[in-house]
Amino acid sequence: MSDAAILTLALPKGRLADQSIRLMAAAGLPQPGRNAGRRLVLASDDGQMRFILAKPVDVPTYVEYGAADVGVCGLDTLRESRRYVYEPLLLPFGHCRLSLAAPVTRPDLPLRYESQPRVATKYPNLTADFFRARGVNAEIIALNGSVELGPLVGLADLIVDLVETGDTLRENGLTEIRTIMHSQAVLIVNRAAYHLKAAAVHNLIDALRTAVENAAR
Ligand code: PRP
Repeated sequence: MSDAAILTLALPKGRLADQSIRLMAAAGLPQPGRNAGRRLVLASDDGQMRFILAKPVDVPTYVEYGAADVGVCGLDTLRESRRYVYEPLLLPFGHCRLSLAAPVTRPDLPLRYESQPRVATKYPNLTADFFRARGVNAEIIALNGSVELGPLVGLADLIVDLVETGDTLRENGLTEIRTIMHSQAVLIVNRAAYHLKAAAVHNLIDALRTAVENAAR
């Protein structure tokens, strides 16, 4: 098989990877072989595809640089990354929202320039955009996880984080005060691969699109 026919797909380790693999199966596409152990590069049983298991925030980087031809990531991660890739297909999982949240005891912090809130987040770019667009002089504190801790320990007044069920916010005494964006999984494609591997890329997109449409029926 020529290189132009073999696609490398970057999958985000974790929940989105499992759902992506289920969608690949439903679409009749190759999937990573079983018994992966801790290996991070896997071939499909039929050798038609290669899979990279990446940290979710790194998927847009692998795809923009062409280390992977295609990838699956959340729209939130993609927008935060500022990476330039094609995004031909939204996928029907990973639904959540990026929200601004405050302690339930202080949900009415005025969002004005002079309020100067300190905001903890894993999404410093999207958070800075949100406050800049509103003329609010926010101090953004970048964290790598468990952002809800910020207000609990006096590090931040507010947080910007993903909300799915809302349980994490509730259990930590926080409440949503604005929705910044809705997110879900998206298929992304390297811009050069989209043309140089056109047949393989378009077969993949078409098969996934059909599986997504069938699942919606
Ligand atoms: C995500 C997100 C919230 C939580 C939201 O965290 O950052 O903390 O899930 O889900 P919920 O609304 O259903 O409670 P994740 O599990 O990825 O861990 P992290 O906070 O360490 O990044």
